[in-house]
Amino acid sequence: DDLEAFIKGLPKAELHVHLEGCLTPQLAKRLAKRNDMPLPDSVKKASTAEGFAFHDLTSFLAIYYPAMEVLQTAEDFADLAMDYLTKAHQQNVRYVELFFDPQAHTSRGVPFPTVLNGYRNGLLKAQRELGISASLIMCFLRDMSAEFAMATLMDALPYKDVIIGVGLDSDERGNPPRKFAKVFGRARQEGFLLTMHCDIDQQDSVKHIRQAVHDIGVDRIDHGTNIVEDAELVELVRQKAIGLTCCPVSNSVVTSDFKGKEILQLLRQGVRVTLNSDDPAYFRGYVNENIFKVAWETDVTRKELVQFQRNAFAVSWLSSWRRDRYL
Ligand code: HPA
Ligand code: ZN
Repeated sequence: DDLEAFIKGLPKAELHVHLEGCLTPQLAKRLAKRNDMPLPDSVKKASTAEGFAFHDLTSFLAIYYPAMEVLQTAEDFADLAMDYLTKAHQQNVRYVELFFDPQAHTSRGVPFPTVLNGYRNGLLKAQRELGISASLIMCFLRDMSAEFAMATLMDALPYKDVIIGVGLDSDERGNPPRKFAKVFGRARQEGFLLTMHCDIDQQDSVKHIRQAVHDIGVDRIDHGTNIVEDAELVELVRQKAIGLTCCPVSNSVVTSDFKGKEILQLLRQGVRVTLNSDDPAYFRGYVNENIFKVAWETDVTRKELVQFQRNAFAVSWLSSWRRDRYL
């Protein structure tokens, strides 16, 4: 209807989407064929009636990492980036900050430069052919060691043209922000901007968010909606204008609740919340579907839907002169 057309027409920025989470079963099949290798079991299952079988973060990650096996050459990484950016462009997304997980590739023998040259070529091609702008945020895998993260940061130093910040993802249980304090301190010194996943309803969500803000000094938080449990933290995040990148469809898959109420409450309290897709190939929703979910299932107004996108451009890491062209 009319509201659907309004949402589709909004110029959008996406700040929380994992490139490896954009690997659709169709693309995985094409790459497996090209690389003359069998389709990983976790992808094979996706095309059966039961589809992807996951219900929380841990069971999702158990499917997500094995599927990446099909990514072998720089061309594969370029095609993955172009595949997502084509879909984003169709949804009127103008600017994207894309997470990627280099350690998920280097740990299985794919060289760091292969990953980066591929992704960089994909981003350049999308800019050239579609006019959509994108940058990379390199995530460290928090269930791996701080030493491996530091070595990965050193690998990234020659790629500052395309990597603008660093993040932290994978399994949060027992892997608090503090574990990576030294790595993030060095990343800051090197000029990278900082964000971190503080996933939905983790054991120590509020504690982890406090560490991310106070000990790490993050510029943004990915998910982070559990701050609603702590009024002081909400006020701090609001004052510091720290953006929260929320993902309603992802929330509804890995927990039983899409957190629409919390997201809207935070928006109305003046926190810079944004709406994003997280792993669209797995959770089956690109950015528009995430906005539709909030639109159909809460009392959000059109003005507030515009505010989500204003927030996204405002807390994005576009340089200020480029940002002003979108706002
Ligand atoms: N949380 C943690 N790690 C991830 C996610 C997520 O939502 N998506 C991809 N890696
Ligand atoms: Zn994520």
